[in-house]
Amino acid sequence: MRDDPADPYTNGTSSYWHLSGPSPELLEALDAGWLRPDMRVLDLGCGLATESAYLRERGFTVVGIDQSEAALHQARMLHPEIEVIADDVRDLPFEPASFDYLLDRGCFHYLASVDRPAYAREAAHVLRSGGELLLRACLHAHGIRNDITQDSIRELFADWRVLMLEQRSIPSDTRTMEALVVRLAKG
Ligand SMILES: C[S@@+](CC[C@H](N)C(=O)[O-])C[C@H]1O[C@@H](n2cnc3c(N)ncnc32)[C@H](O)[C@@H]1O
Repeated sequence: MRDDPADPYTNGTSSYWHLSGPSPELLEALDAGWLRPDMRVLDLGCGLATESAYLRERGFTVVGIDQSEAALHQARMLHPEIEVIADDVRDLPFEPASFDYLLDRGCFHYLASVDRPAYAREAAHVLRSGGELLLRACLHAHGIRNDITQDSIRELFADWRVLMLEQRSIPSDTRTMEALVVRLAKG
């Protein structure tokens, strides 16, 4: 595999967001019972599959998807038991209603605004009716404010039920990030 210098997993940028353990919002979802081990989960923009691996250890069936070959190469070394797929969240390679729960720790906000409707459409396509999406959308990338607000989230996911939409300070291994934590139900 060739290193792509623009890939955050080869140029070191990934250290900004990487968290070695499960995220606070994932732990909250498990504690609250929003996520249960009988669910089939898709980890959107799984990166090194840290969240996927945590869920898999707890009996979940998890699939990770990410566009970064470098990330997935590392994910397969770290967690060979996890199924990870190299593909684009804007065009998901799954049948309709294949998943009960979608998890996104930090992928959505990397998309350009123009691409976010495709993300919402694809998420709705692969999620069963009544299934949920737990989304963390960071408010800054590379120190620059993202064009993400509570209103833009509500507008984009207008067909979904908003179960939670809160701004929080969330730790990574190297910093604390301001983000919207969003819990959405399909239909
Ligand atoms: C902030 S990182 C988070 C990674 C992982 N969820 C974590 O918490 O460590 C965002 C991830 O989204 C992936 N990503 C960005 N745009 C994507 C796209 N269009 N399709 C698939 N993955 C994408 C990146 O490669 C990166 O791994």
